[in-house]
Amino acid sequence: MLSPKIENISTSGTMEVAAKTIEMQSEGIDVLNLCVGEPDLPTPNHIKQAAVEAIYSDKTKYTLNTGIKELRTAISEKFSIEYGTRYSIEEIIVSNGAKQAIYNALQTIVKDGDEVLIPLPYYVSYPHMVKLAGGIPIFVETKRENSYKLTSEELSSNINPHTKAVVICNPSNPTGAVFTKNELLSVIKTAVENNLIIICDEIYEKLIYDSTIFTSVAELGEKFKNHLIIVNGVSKTYAMTGWRIGYALAPKKIVTGMSKLQSHSTSGACSISQYASLEALTGPQEVVEKQRKIFEDRRNLVYKALTEIDSLSFVEPHGAFYFFVNIKSIIKKSKLINNSKEFCIKLLNEGHVATVPGSVFGMEGYLRISYAKSMEELIEAMRRIKKAVDSFI
Ligand SMILES: Cc1ncc(COP(=O)(O)O)c(C=O)c1O
Repeated sequence: MLSPKIENISTSGTMEVAAKTIEMQSEGIDVLNLCVGEPDLPTPNHIKQAAVEAIYSDKTKYTLNTGIKELRTAISEKFSIEYGTRYSIEEIIVSNGAKQAIYNALQTIVKDGDEVLIPLPYYVSYPHMVKLAGGIPIFVETKRENSYKLTSEELSSNINPHTKAVVICNPSNPTGAVFTKNELLSVIKTAVENNLIIICDEIYEKLIYDSTIFTSVAELGEKFKNHLIIVNGVSKTYAMTGWRIGYALAPKKIVTGMSKLQSHSTSGACSISQYASLEALTGPQEVVEKQRKIFEDRRNLVYKALTEIDSLSFVEPHGAFYFFVNIKSIIKKSKLINNSKEFCIKLLNEGHVATVPGSVFGMEGYLRISYAKSMEELIEAMRRIKKAVDSFI
């Protein structure tokens, strides 16, 4: 009954934990949900106000398919000011979230049988999007000693005549790793030398901690521009996940292709959300630093708590709001836990903490913990995790 295209993709691997979490919560059990992939903070008031004003000034009709000119101009200016790179508004398209931008990009550049390189661990949707575009996801192993960041050697050893593109998530969901400028440059150089397109997902661009410096691929030089599709949005930076605004910057030809697809599927993004996003990008930016600092404090708390649990290990995250925790020693010692999904279900049942199994991100033996929760909730969650984990072995 269903098309093989749909049979070929799975629902999100988080479904089982999510369904069980909801079931337990409806029974009145106090479950702490550390699966969340969105800031728990509210969208700032001045942004909400801009949306209200858009409604009352009747900016409630279809917009240009590629997005309102003012928003694309604001995006262009952001890249010029922050990264010193010029993008014309014809090289920018606004979509329904960063997710749609990635989806449209893949649909636009991938033909049947093309291979798309995806470093492990990956953001859950990438392989499914590649398959939906008719491509073949090729998973590239990365190393712990490189904080699971792709190297140019790992990239080049997976390139063949069918390789079309590589997807890079910087900062990474799920590891929180952030590329240094040199690391990024060497990967991009190799990709460009091999004529690949690089889709760079920079949605966590503003959630960077310690003295870490974020480098956008946009900064690396004009000579790479023809090969880059940069994806970003307002979801994480401005706590606007539900407003569904993302965008892509890419060569005009690719943007035109993405625009054609968008025009025949969803049309342009919600007009009201676009005006709210315009305010997000052009209004006061103090909220961005305020939110970043809140996440940094939470990260430090979780870092300390996890360090005190001997059987868990992790690579220190420098961005986003996740820890990707190695649970292999527990799986090895425990007779009852054979994989990351079983670990998460047991942690949920016995510790009342919901987390995401590493298998969802393509790597067995890990779990992802999100710290997009209040300090109080995180303190309690860490106490529960320690107690549960100690009882597993
Ligand atoms: C790496 C990454 N890219 C894209 C998205 C989707 O962003 P949006 O909500 O703007 O579609 C997410 C959301 O969790 C993400 O983690």
